[in-house]
Amino acid sequence: MTEKKYLRIEDLPGVGPSIANRLRELGFHTVESLAMATVRELTQAGIGEKKAFQIINAARASSSLSFIRADELIVKRQNILKLTTGSRKLDALLGGGIETQSITEFYGEYGSGKSQIAHQLCVNVQLPVEEGGLDGGALYIDTENTFRVERISQMARHMGLDPEDVLKHIILAEAYTSDHQIFLLENADEVIKENNIRLIVIDSLTSHFRSEYIGRESLAERQQKLNQHMHKLIRLARAFNAAAVVTNQVMSSPDVFFGDSIRPIGGHIVAHTSHTRIYLRKAGRGPVRIARLVSSPYLPEGECIFRITENGIEDVEEEKER
Ligand code: GTP
Ligand code: MG
Repeated sequence: MTEKKYLRIEDLPGVGPSIANRLRELGFHTVESLAMATVRELTQAGIGEKKAFQIINAARASSSLSFIRADELIVKRQNILKLTTGSRKLDALLGGGIETQSITEFYGEYGSGKSQIAHQLCVNVQLPVEEGGLDGGALYIDTENTFRVERISQMARHMGLDPEDVLKHIILAEAYTSDHQIFLLENADEVIKENNIRLIVIDSLTSHFRSEYIGRESLAERQQKLNQHMHKLIRLARAFNAAAVVTNQVMSSPDVFFGDSIRPIGGHIVAHTSHTRIYLRKAGRGPVRIARLVSSPYLPEGECIFRITENGIEDVEEEKER
């Protein structure tokens, strides 16, 4: 690529200090995020359409994210990295681990292990690529006050890592409302870039939306906001080659009489925007969990088991499986 690289947003043609400030107010702190912006988003900053188009194009050229040939797509796909869950079986179900540049959703009942997996990923992401990590940090958007420093330390120690060092590479953002959650993600690009964040967790994606938007009349607004929120997440994951992991609760739908009446929250929007969906459930009272790959762009459906122990997410020993 011979395209000019721009490091800061004010270096882009057409962006002076005052436009740069307006863009920052809208949550665009990096050239990468501008490359993923839409013209409509920028016109909200009082920037004319033509100029918005010019800025986005320059940002795209700079981050080499514009038109690509289909054969180059293969190369781009080769940039996709996989993050280990800690369980070989679960990794295999996911085709090698959790992919960067797309959204992976874990849904299931309380205690099914969604937050435990999220914690484990925050540690694993810090491993070198050869060991199944992404050699980067984690951003954890916590909506239910579930993040536990002690649990991270426990997992890190088990892996022979220095807990203090591991905690230094996890940025925690507590979201108090759905609007706050949206705001945090809208403004996350700089934090992601500065801290080499390669894993973005939203635990849980839907809890605030579910408790704030009640009744049929607010459903359309809720879905529209969730849609925008998830698209922002995809764009960040693509721009920074990061894995995006969201958790989601379930509800039982009274209209289903046959089969499994358990449904994830969020309807079609969440279903279609999550690229990979995994349904977690308990297998009895012990530490064993069943993971079902419900949807994936190219992998077949399937199931596996893993367990949650003091050490974190692990495989179930072979003899116990039989
Ligand atoms: P909700 O957020 O309530 O919907 O549930 P969740 O799916 O996020 O559940 P979570 O990941 O928090 O799983 C909780 C379960 O993990 C507990 O019931 C325990 O079975 C297990 N667990 C959590 N911490 C530990 C631990 O330190 N040791 C062991 N052995 N198990 C743990
Ligand atoms: Mg949880």
